[in-house]
Amino acid sequence: MQISPSILSADFANLESELGRISNADWAHVDVMDAHFVPNLTLGTPIVEALAKVSPIPLDVHLMIQDPDRWAAGYAEAGAKSVTFHIEAVADPIKTARAIRAAGARASMAIKPGTDFEPYADLLPELDMVLVMTVEPGFGGQSFMADQMTKVAQVRRAVQRSGGEIWIQVDGGVSADTIGQCAEAGADVFVAGSAVYGADDAAAQVSALRSLAQQHEH
Ligand code: DX5
Ligand code: ZN
Repeated sequence: MQISPSILSADFANLESELGRISNADWAHVDVMDAHFVPNLTLGTPIVEALAKVSPIPLDVHLMIQDPDRWAAGYAEAGAKSVTFHIEAVADPIKTARAIRAAGARASMAIKPGTDFEPYADLLPELDMVLVMTVEPGFGGQSFMADQMTKVAQVRRAVQRSGGEIWIQVDGGVSADTIGQCAEAGADVFVAGSAVYGADDAAAQVSALRSLAQQHEH
């Protein structure tokens, strides 16, 4: 049960100290948006490289960009330890996943709420994680989509069948109120932006979320 707070809800003028607030988390989730795949623009490889140098925990980069085939491995080279591309955006998922792994990071595929998982189940041997989005990607602070829990359970069954050690991440609207159902459905990596950075004590919130997830373990 791992917690990956999203720095999208952090103070962008003070990212080093904002990373320090979540040093007890397992990962720091970094949302890369290009204003094309999603209607928002955040940051790219120069900032990921700078964050990797000062972060007390590994970076979990979530690419919400077009043409991840071209850019994904560069984020691993910049120091990210996990790189997620969207299946709706990638042209060659196998080649892209292999390039991420060759550059030294875990390779992960994200699925938007309206996208079915089943057509992509054969990709599991190439992946270290599947991210099931629980909001439409683009912004923090949106409402959790509980209807995505059937997809989480479906991915969990496919992972069990494939036999690999593949993590299942949920991202969007994850909070103390919603993390339990995610864990019950089979998720084991939990992204939380506003729930963590909106708390006075972010580290205490990380611990609280982790123990809630453990109580509801699949
Ligand atoms: C949304 C991002 C999320 C976002 C989550 O597109 O991928 O990582 O930061 O924020 P919350 O936890 O506030 O929904
Ligand atoms: Zn994200």
